[in-house]
Amino acid sequence: MKVVRSIEELRSQLLGQLRTAFVPTMGNLHAGHLSLMRLAARHGDPVVASIFVNRLQFGPKEDFESYPRTFDADCDKLSKEGVYVLFAPDERELYPEPQEYRVSPPAALGDTLEGEFRPGFFVGVTTVVLKLFSCVQPRAAVFGKKDYQQLMIVRNMCRQFSLPCEIIAAETVRADDGLALSSRNGYLSDPERREAPALFRTLNEVREKVLARDLSFAAIEQSARAALVHRGWRPDYVSIRRRADLKLPDSDAALSEEPLVVLAAAHLGKTRLIDNLEI
Ligand code: PAF
Repeated sequence: MKVVRSIEELRSQLLGQLRTAFVPTMGNLHAGHLSLMRLAARHGDPVVASIFVNRLQFGPKEDFESYPRTFDADCDKLSKEGVYVLFAPDERELYPEPQEYRVSPPAALGDTLEGEFRPGFFVGVTTVVLKLFSCVQPRAAVFGKKDYQQLMIVRNMCRQFSLPCEIIAAETVRADDGLALSSRNGYLSDPERREAPALFRTLNEVREKVLARDLSFAAIEQSARAALVHRGWRPDYVSIRRRADLKLPDSDAALSEEPLVVLAAAHLGKTRLIDNLEI
């Protein structure tokens, strides 16, 4: 695997490659990321990964400084997966001057759920993804369903800007107890790690209740939030949405025929976890 630090070197490495499949990451790679690499290999060749902890998508009180950086271990994992090029620019390379031009997702999609609780997050994500796409020029790029809203926002950005890149969705990889793999799981203490699968269990309970069609969505969401609070969590949201656009579905559960997804974000101690489940 070739580790490339500059945009110029990246472009010369990829010259003439028309089928590049790309996986952008912020490093601290786990089995979920590696599944994205494998899926990328089914959609293009060569596979290019990036590692860049993108300051633009972190709020002032968030964990940019402490975000886990495990570059050498990440490189070992990526080379074992057969990744051809790892693009790992530093901040001076990707943002040599203040990034004044930014991508602004539509408010209806970008300012709800994660966007409501992490203002500016999706502007930071789409801006860096557009820039990385411009550097790598992939034909396909893989994003995990764990970040459901991010996946949808990036896919819509590609469509609206006519970017010649297909966005491939990868299923969430979970630990045996159901906890979705995430770099932030490393922040959990041992007792918190034992508690953490309760988030996914709660999503499953929401799913069962929605399928039973005997309670309103609002009542189901409220009881899920209350159950988490009872267990010591501080939920930001538990919300049932339309899969197609993440808008609120028809409030009458019995009438709603649309494919749905339930999304949740909640704090457990100092760690904020997100997860979702298609219904
Ligand atoms: O999902 C992530 O790891 C990040 O949001 C991404 C897509 C690499 C952009 O920084």
